[in-house]
Amino acid sequence: MRPPTRCLLTSPRSPRPPPCWPANETPPLGPASGRRLAAEKIGNQPGFRDPSGTVSTYSTNGALDTGNPFFQSMGTNGRSCASCHLTSDAFGLSATSAQVRFAASGGTDRLFAAVDGANCPSAAPSDAAARSLLLNNGLIRVFLLVPASAQFTVEAVHDPYGCALVADPQGAQIVSVYPRPLPTTNLSFLSAVMFDGRETSAPLTNAGTFLANLRTDLAHQAMDATLGQAQAAAAPSDATLAQIVDFELALFTAQETDDAADILNAEGANGGPGALADQGFYPGINDPLGGNPTGAAFDPVSITIYTPWLSLPSSDNGRYKGAREAVARGEALFDTHPVAITDVTRLIAASRFELPLLGSNQDSPDPEGAS
Ligand code: HEC
Repeated sequence: MRPPTRCLLTSPRSPRPPPCWPANETPPLGPASGRRLAAEKIGNQPGFRDPSGTVSTYSTNGALDTGNPFFQSMGTNGRSCASCHLTSDAFGLSATSAQVRFAASGGTDRLFAAVDGANCPSAAPSDAAARSLLLNNGLIRVFLLVPASAQFTVEAVHDPYGCALVADPQGAQIVSVYPRPLPTTNLSFLSAVMFDGRETSAPLTNAGTFLANLRTDLAHQAMDATLGQAQAAAAPSDATLAQIVDFELALFTAQETDDAADILNAEGANGGPGALADQGFYPGINDPLGGNPTGAAFDPVSITIYTPWLSLPSSDNGRYKGAREAVARGEALFDTHPVAITDVTRLIAASRFELPLLGSNQDSPDPEGAS
């Protein structure tokens, strides 16, 4: 027998039934009161220009607290979290921003510290060529220790920069990889922390433990970032780490306006960061492999935020009609176009596909039972 469930309160406008979870478990992250905003202003932070319009962030804490330790230098190289997670870049880092900062500072901005703001740590100060990955692609060097217990060895097949594989003083292998800073926003929908999930120290697979474990993971991640990327001598206090996590978890970022379709929550649509903050989430929500803890079946047509735009009357907003209907058709295509997964022996944690309305299979059990 299925256990009794409780359900989130969702907007009466929502065409979908609200998300539900077992009554004996902690509720998933749900909408906080007062999050819904007026149609004409959907972010509560300034919007920033991006290639197709503006992107904006909504903080459930209200104003962006720039006094938060996220914005303070806590290490030895003068960097803060905001050195690489820029408010103006949706809390990530674009190559354009890196170029602007290099030009403005003659390459002396702390972002370009040789430890990881260069292709290799041997880079000379202000040498742009030695920072091509950061300047051209917004990439930071992450150096990972191959554990002594590894049941594999790593060989460099192609080493264009000269530090793909180096030895630490104890002779252990260190591998250089070059990811972009992941955005420190929309984190309440995460199924893994970091590209390779290495900061998912507490699993994010259970609705009952999700939020507590996410806080544990993010606090540990913030400690490692302070010790590593800010080169601190000592870890920040638990209280400081909690402040950073509180700051991060309050952030929701989404496209706010589109150059052709204008405001993305106009005429009944639900785009933008305010609506995203209203989106409930728990691990397994709408799981295509049947892992929804409520027992609910997978619903492929789960993204309905632009459904009201499928057919619009020609009104005062007639000039946006064509573009808005095109957005709605794109959403319908996304919801209905079958994607065949063929020639794979097992489905594993291969992606960071974290759309809250679809759920994620990142850490779901191997459906074929292989290990
Ligand atoms: C030198 C640049 C840099 C600095 C400084 C920095 N980060 Fe990051 N951050 C990155 C990069 C690069 C990644 C992705 C690394 C990976 O996945 O291997 C990342 C990933 C993250 C993630 C993971 C997000 C996700 O979706 O998994 C969080 C959270 C985060 N950083 C928070 C912080 C905090 C908090 C601080 C300050 C204490 C900080 N970062 C400082 C570059 C930086």
